[in-house]
Amino acid sequence: MKLIASLQTILNRQAEHERFASASYLALAHWCSDQEYNGFARFFHSQAEEETEHMLKLQSHLLDREAKPVLEAMPAPVNEFSNLTAAAEHALELERENTLGIETAYAAANEANDYAAQALLQWFITEQVEEEAWATKMVTLCKRAECSGAIYNLDRHINKELAEEG
Ligand code: FEO
Repeated sequence: MKLIASLQTILNRQAEHERFASASYLALAHWCSDQEYNGFARFFHSQAEEETEHMLKLQSHLLDREAKPVLEAMPAPVNEFSNLTAAAEHALELERENTLGIETAYAAANEANDYAAQALLQWFITEQVEEEAWATKMVTLCKRAECSGAIYNLDRHINKELAEEG
């Protein structure tokens, strides 16, 4: 079932968004490691891997539908943050942008009456609810920990704190 050209472009663009998100999380992980926030670094590393999986999921769909994925030049991710809350806010911003990209792609799939692409993108729509939820929670926890001076305690427990969200 060959993809129409316009949808091919939009799905490829979304795959590229996911690739950029992966690079951005890797930059976040490295910044955290450099600052000795090793719990956050671990968490962002796993997010980077997850975003690569998302990119591959979209690219597999393109290939299954006779459309070759195209990798383009990417802007550099943000590498420096003023503090941990700013890093968490950046993660939330990335997720919100990704949600917008998914919604744009889903609208295009609806417009094209492309049921296969709709089904694929529904998975991403559900995923984005989770992604925005943990990112929002991370911002809240970072702000609270900065106020109480408990940032290193939060760093030790970040995976557990965010897992409890789910
Ligand atoms: Fe692939 Fe965090 O969205």
